[in-house]
Amino acid sequence: MNSQIIEIPATQWQLPATQNKWINALEQGKVLYFPQLPFTLTADERSLLTPKVLEEKVRNISLANHHELKGAAGDKQTQKLLKNMLQRYRSHSEQLIHSLLPKYQGALREAPTSYRPKAVEARKQSWRADDRRMHVDSFPSRPNHGERILRVFSNINPAGVPRVWRVGEPFADMVKTMLPRAKPYVRWQAKALHKLGITKSLRSEYDHLMLQLHDNMKADMDYQTSAPQVTMPFAAGSAWVCFSDHALHGVESGQYMLEQTFHIAPEDQYDPNISPLAHLNTVMQRQLV
Ligand code: SIN
Ligand code: FE
Repeated sequence: MNSQIIEIPATQWQLPATQNKWINALEQGKVLYFPQLPFTLTADERSLLTPKVLEEKVRNISLANHHELKGAAGDKQTQKLLKNMLQRYRSHSEQLIHSLLPKYQGALREAPTSYRPKAVEARKQSWRADDRRMHVDSFPSRPNHGERILRVFSNINPAGVPRVWRVGEPFADMVKTMLPRAKPYVRWQAKALHKLGITKSLRSEYDHLMLQLHDNMKADMDYQTSAPQVTMPFAAGSAWVCFSDHALHGVESGQYMLEQTFHIAPEDQYDPNISPLAHLNTVMQRQLV
């Protein structure tokens, strides 16, 4: 397997210049790793490095585009610090993405910023929701009709603990194994799910197949352990970027991470022909959206 991880020695969130080989790698589903790109907390913000800032029973704190903070416990001052930290992380991520991918400017749709202060090892979840198992991101209640999921991650662990991921084989290789197991799409079922409010919009055949790939990968423990993969410790003080609907990933361990999501239509990519939707359209020999 060619390396699925490309290291970039940048030290500033605003890159002085980008490179086509980085852009191609990212759009092909690889992970761009910036080992020397820390997101530095202020002295006050360091008090946020505890799972106590989380409301009960939630995993993440998130800041929506319209500045609403969700999932945070604590007093007004704590909430204000959280909001500031997340806003600053959002603007650092924007700088990185705009300088790495200038053509995306104007085409990106911003999604929430999130802070994950819990230790991954402490999570208890059903196999389907368990992100320790390798998967591509696909969300049961939020069909996206092929819109891409681009994410910027930063490990802000204060004690030097890495965030350890497993990064799997290329998407197309996984599809060869997993697509034959997919249940067929049933349009009336998708309509019923939408009508009942279980999905926020109509689940397209694309969304159905992506969920099937996600579930079938997670359900297969033999695939999880034996499929081609690399274990990748993302160092404290580093950042990494990937299309999480395309790069196979699972998180093994770590604590304290920030994440910013962006969406973009595949037509607006540098190469619109490389995306999960384009690939699945080709394999299925029809338009899935
Ligand atoms: C995921 O996106 O699957 C989880 C990533 C992480 O928590 O490190
Ligand atoms: Fe994921």
